[in-house]
Amino acid sequence: MHEPNHSRINLPDEAATAAFAALLAHALQPGLVIYLRGNLGAGKTTLVRALLQALGYTGRVKSPTYTLIEHYEVAGLHLRHFDLYRFRDAEEWEGSGFRDDFDGRNICLVEWPEQAAGLLPPADVSLTFEILQDGRDVLLHAYSDAGQKCLNAL
Ligand SMILES: Nc1ncnc2c1ncn2[C@@H]1O[C@H](COP(=O)(O)OP(=O)(O)OP(=O)(O)O)[C@@H](O)[C@H]1O
Ligand SMILES: [Mg+2]
Repeated sequence: MHEPNHSRINLPDEAATAAFAALLAHALQPGLVIYLRGNLGAGKTTLVRALLQALGYTGRVKSPTYTLIEHYEVAGLHLRHFDLYRFRDAEEWEGSGFRDDFDGRNICLVEWPEQAAGLLPPADVSLTFEILQDGRDVLLHAYSDAGQKCLNAL
């Protein structure tokens, strides 16, 4: 039997995004690489914030707009939240040490992965946010067995 490796979910408002993030939070496994795609303001950071809160994180969740990366440890999981919008080139990649964050243990959530195309390790799952007149659609795609397991667990 083959599970479909993609699906689309409508998120009519931010509360729906938070509910989806809570489902995803409980489907996470160490080492997952999740690309978050979609335009400025599509809801990528909102999803990560709600996901961390669903795991029990009570601190502030800042957008990594300037730092490019934020680290979190919660519920026995190690998470890395990237925003590569301002990322420039291969030289910056080498200097950043980001490669070491993709260690098979950290869960890596990456906004603007296209900015580091060819450098970034491949995704297990991508979530692509589309801005609708009201709310958002999110397209889920699995690219590996681990990613498929994650989507099946939603
Ligand atoms: N399902 C939803 N329906 C309507 N509005 C939403 C929904 N989810 C999030 N939003 C709103 O959309 C905005 C999303 O902002 P957010 O910072 O999460 O975007 P982003 O994709 O991370 O953007 P950037 O690329 O600039 O980092 C917020 O104002 C949030 O309240
Ligand atoms: Mg963001």
